[in-house]
Amino acid sequence: SNFTVISRNGQVVPIEGREGISVMEHIRDAGVDELLALCGGCCSCATCHVYVDDDFQEHLPALTVDEDDLLDSSDHRRSQSRLSCQIRFAPELKGMIVTLAPED
Ligand code: FES
Repeated sequence: SNFTVISRNGQVVPIEGREGISVMEHIRDAGVDELLALCGGCCSCATCHVYVDDDFQEHLPALTVDEDDLLDSSDHRRSQSRLSCQIRFAPELKGMIVTLAPED
């Protein structure tokens, strides 16, 4: 597998990364239905909130103003917080661990 998702109940789900496809879509396609992703990936719902482990922060795309604002609306924001629909899988993300944030 290319990266790993940890669900809210601690289930470890190995994921085969597909370049250019969002992390949110990977998680949904893997059957992790806790990730609601209500807006379908257009950066307007924040229900795809995840934590990306520190080692991979530098490889993530820059945070946009919209994403930053949405993350601020969460009670569970941490320094590792990102919206998974805004991260496209890329080779430099191999080995990344993504943990689902608690539901707001
Ligand atoms: Fe709605 Fe990511 S799916 S913000």
